[in-house]
Amino acid sequence: MNRKLFIALALILIFCCQTLAQTGIKKKRPLPYEYGRVVIDNYSADTDLSPVVFEHWIHRAKFTCRVCHVDIGFAMKTGGTGIKATDNARGFYCGTCHNGKMQNEGKAIFAACSRNASAGDQKRCIRCHSLGQKVASDYDFFKFSEPLPKERFGNGLDWEKAEEMGLIKPIAHLEGISSAKSALALQKDFSLNPKVEGMPDIIFSHRKHTVWNGCELCHPDIFMGVKKGTSRYSMVDISEGKSCGACHTTVAFPLMDCQRCHSKPVHP
Ligand code: HEC
Ligand code: HEC
Ligand code: HEC
Ligand code: HEC
Ligand code: HEC
Ligand code: HEC
Repeated sequence: MNRKLFIALALILIFCCQTLAQTGIKKKRPLPYEYGRVVIDNYSADTDLSPVVFEHWIHRAKFTCRVCHVDIGFAMKTGGTGIKATDNARGFYCGTCHNGKMQNEGKAIFAACSRNASAGDQKRCIRCHSLGQKVASDYDFFKFSEPLPKERFGNGLDWEKAEEMGLIKPIAHLEGISSAKSALALQKDFSLNPKVEGMPDIIFSHRKHTVWNGCELCHPDIFMGVKKGTSRYSMVDISEGKSCGACHTTVAFPLMDCQRCHSKPVHP
């Protein structure tokens, strides 16, 4: 066997084994409608309410990542925000939108937590405090995804194409909450060389990422971004949720989809 090809295959094997070792072989791959699900459970256990289930797919179809993770200020880590019922009731975090007033497709978005919940409110509470509860959802993933372009992993959808085709129109600005759009110049796309023979280069598109993320989701927390070449990448770091893996293991298409990143044709 070609020696370089052998090295490339060996590396892939190491990478895959490490990923398996880290995630545990028994952990099953999330189904398309489970991918991006976040269970928020810092305080619910101390109350008689169930933990909160937050679905990225419902929300990212309507809003850009930036609206929530920069303007509203949700952490990029499960439980990292430390959301309290009073925050929500005062119009922060979930309550920014879930306030019973903000309109979505012609109806008011149901309100989040309130202190003196009547029996009638209970039904509303469990729409979010829903882990292990039987709740009727207004959203059916299969119906939602039917008209959208498909991909193989994650939510099984090509979110970018869906946005380009105008099938989803994520809102990028919330009146009174989002700061003025950053006027920073768009950066050029670039490619990264994995330094392994036979492994295609990675093409990174600033333009495409900025549609969803703005700049602040990546700079400076995930990438310093002052100058290309400052960040060092490796597949092991990425699979541990660092650098590109901050999003591409949980919400954006997952690492299984090798060729969507390693996409530059290899020339012999
Ligand atoms: C409607 C608001 C909203 C939108 C839109 C949104 N997120 Fe999130 N995201 C959240 C919340 C809430 C959490 C959980 C935070 C917590 O538990 O404190 C979260 C968590 C995450 C996490 C951590 C997941 C984990 O498993 O730890 C990542 C990564 C993330 N979001 C990326 C994204 C990306 C990328 C997009 C755009 C494609 C996006 N989010 C869009 C609200 C949102
Ligand atoms: C940027 C605005 C925004 C934020 C922030 C937001 N949501 Fe939503 N959410 C929406 C909209 C719009 C809908 C669709 C509402 C509807 O159809 O009534 C929705 C729907 C939902 C649903 C679906 C209910 C169903 O019928 O299945 C749940 C559950 C939910 N949100 C939970 C949360 C939680 C928990 C948080 C905070 C961690 C949160 N949302 C933050 C805008 C937001
Ligand atoms: C739009 C989603 C949403 C709805 C609807 C909602 N909550 Fe919450 N609530 C949350 C989130 C997110 C948390 C944080 C959960 C955690 O960390 O365990 C939370 C936490 C809580 C907590 C524990 C934290 C604290 O500050 O004490 C209480 C109590 C609570 N909610 C009460 C209610 C009640 C009562 C209702 C119904 C009237 C309700 N919530 C409806 C999203 C929601
Ligand atoms: C999804 C993550 C992501 C987003 C969003 C993003 N960047 Fe970057 N940016 C990167 C990465 C990765 C690099 C390369 C950093 C490195 O190699 O050290 C980079 C590099 C840069 C550089 C250095 C370029 C060079 O040639 O030296 C600048 C300047 C920059 N980004 C500005 C921006 C601006 C302005 C925005 C918003 C319009 C933005 N970035 C959005 C990930 C991102
Ligand atoms: C802040 C979150 C975030 C980070 C960090 C991030 N991405 Fe993405 N990326 C996204 C989202 C969101 C999409 C849209 C597609 C989706 O959600 O599946 C995307 C799409 C892509 C695409 C397909 C679009 C295209 O350019 O053709 C590629 C390739 C990609 N990312 C590579 C990378 C690489 C390589 C890195 C690290 C240098 C990286 N991403 C870091 C969020 C992120
Ligand atoms: C989200 C984008 C992304 C996906 C998906 C992805 N990679 Fe990578 N890969 C990278 C980046 C970035 C590097 C580092 C490039 C560099 O060295 O600058 C890399 C590097 C590598 C390397 C070189 C050795 C190393 O650890 O740095 C190998 C081998 C590799 N990837 C294999 C794979 C395989 C196999 C898959 C599918 C199971 C995969 N990659 C999926 C982004 C990705």
